[in-house]
Amino acid sequence: MIRPIVKYPEPSLEEKCVPVEVFDEELKNLARDMLETMYAAPGIGLAAPQVGVNIRLIVLDPTAGDENGHQMVLVNPEVVEVTGRQKEEEGCLSLPGLTAVVERPFSVRVKAQDLDGNPVEVEGANLMARLLCHEIDHLDGVLYLQHLSALKRDLLKRRIRKLIRNGEW
Ligand code: NI
Repeated sequence: MIRPIVKYPEPSLEEKCVPVEVFDEELKNLARDMLETMYAAPGIGLAAPQVGVNIRLIVLDPTAGDENGHQMVLVNPEVVEVTGRQKEEEGCLSLPGLTAVVERPFSVRVKAQDLDGNPVEVEGANLMARLLCHEIDHLDGVLYLQHLSALKRDLLKRRIRKLIRNGEW
C-alpha cells in the first residue's frame, strides 16, 4: 500500500525516532509499504518518519527499482565508520522539487538489523554512502537543510514558504 509522504515543515520530521524492538508482521508490512511508496514517488530512499511512523527503519534502492537486487531494508541502522568526503547534489521526498549540494562522507560502514532482528553490516561509497547518511539522518530528525550554510538554508526555506503560499507544496 502506498502511504502519503510527510512533507517539511511537519514537526514530526524533526524528531528523533525510537529504536525498533519488536520484529513482527506489522514491521514487515510497514517496510513493504515504504518500498512501494518509495518506488512510486519515485525515489531511491525513504525513512519511516517520512510516512508518519517515528521508528528507526529505512528502505533504499540506489537504482530506484531499475535493476533487481539493490533493494535494502535496514532496521536500527547506525553509522560506525566514515571515510573521506564528497559534495553532490541531493534531494529528499519530504522536500519535493528541491535540491542542494550537500557534503557527506565518501564511504561509510553501517551496522543494522534485518526485518527478523538479525545483525547485518553494509558498506557503501559514493551515492550509496550519501543515501545511507541521508536516510539515517532522518531517524535523528535531521533533514539535509541542516547541513547547508545558514544563507542557503534560508534561501530554500523562503522558496518553500512561497510554494506553500501559492498552494504548490
Ligand atoms: Ni529524505
